[in-house]
Amino acid sequence: MRLSQKAEHNINSDNTDFTSPCDLIHPFRWNWDNAFYALGIFMYNKKKAINEINKIFERQLPNGMIPHIFFLPNSHTYYTYPHILESNGKPPVSCISQPPILSTIIWYMIVLGLHNKSVVHVYFNRLMYYHKWFIENRDPYNNGLISILHPWESGRDNSPDWIDALNDIHLDNSLNKDEIKQNENYNRYMQIILKNEELDWNSKEIYNNGLFNVCDPGIQFMFIRACKDLYKMAIWLERTDCYELLNQWIDIYSTNCDKLWCNQLNTYTTLNIKTIELYKGISPASMLYAYADVGTQFQRHKMLEHSKRILHFSKYSFPTHDPYSNKYQLNKYWQGPVSSILNFIVALGMAHIHESELAHNIKTHTIQLIENDGFYKYFDPLQGLGLGENESWTACIYLVFSELLM
Ligand code: GLC
Repeated sequence: MRLSQKAEHNINSDNTDFTSPCDLIHPFRWNWDNAFYALGIFMYNKKKAINEINKIFERQLPNGMIPHIFFLPNSHTYYTYPHILESNGKPPVSCISQPPILSTIIWYMIVLGLHNKSVVHVYFNRLMYYHKWFIENRDPYNNGLISILHPWESGRDNSPDWIDALNDIHLDNSLNKDEIKQNENYNRYMQIILKNEELDWNSKEIYNNGLFNVCDPGIQFMFIRACKDLYKMAIWLERTDCYELLNQWIDIYSTNCDKLWCNQLNTYTTLNIKTIELYKGISPASMLYAYADVGTQFQRHKMLEHSKRILHFSKYSFPTHDPYSNKYQLNKYWQGPVSSILNFIVALGMAHIHESELAHNIKTHTIQLIENDGFYKYFDPLQGLGLGENESWTACIYLVFSELLM
């Protein structure tokens, strides 16, 4: 069997069109995972891919938010997640969101052959609404920085990028569920959720008085890129009514990236909105400056130096944290190992700024990694050994990377 066929088999879909990361640990439907699936599946079955997108929009909330998890009916394993029961008997969804990748994914699907304008018109309206939700709820004072109000909103749940912000939350020993007892970070994740519940999941209240409020450069850059792709969609659809607003969004969020610039390390990094302190460290999220296409000539030059330095260390492209940092851990997810999806978006960024050799290397190394070892969720950056479980999104990235000229 060819590897691309194996990849199709590794996408965890059943006949009822339900696609999830993997049965064991993450059996639900997820926000950005399912967006990546749509792009992967688009490579061999356009109808099924469109269905994936429709399923994501099906769970968009009336306020425009797309939740981070859509649970299964009668699922009993979600007690550690923040969730709300939707009305009309629908299964619960989570109360937080995830990286805004959807507009970019849909734009790629258009480029690759999704030409039905009436379908895209419907998506476009929903995406505008989704972006407005981000602005109103994750940047309520129009500072030009998109916050995450829980580490899980970043998609890089346990990254060291917000370790200082997390450590500011005192451990609560009264939270004594088994796995929480054993894990200090989990104790804090749960405290954030409980506090948000206390604040009725009111975004502005949480922004002001919640336990955690951080601007992750990954989210900021993905949002800017998403606005730019939405703008391209507006042109394609001739939605002149939206040009001005989209341009305003692109402008304000691009300009304010400067607040994420650390002069000491010469890099974009995470800003703790509560303390106005920058995290002194670098992760692939910082490298998404290229994907968003922001920065002065000096900033771009410095970021490229960091990219090359990190790529020099790792045989299989970007580790999920700077390997020269004392926070780097080779086999702890989002703290060191390579993730195929991050490699994918970093490579898109490098291609976008015409760093073709870098983009090509990241792509070939990711393909090699998967061909040598399988569709693992993450990999050891030096030996290339698969870690975690087999994951649908790695299979999808394999399918997309194999087709993309880069
Ligand atoms: C982990 C990841 C998150 C992903 C989820 C499902 O929680 O951190 O980004 O969406 O798994 O794959």
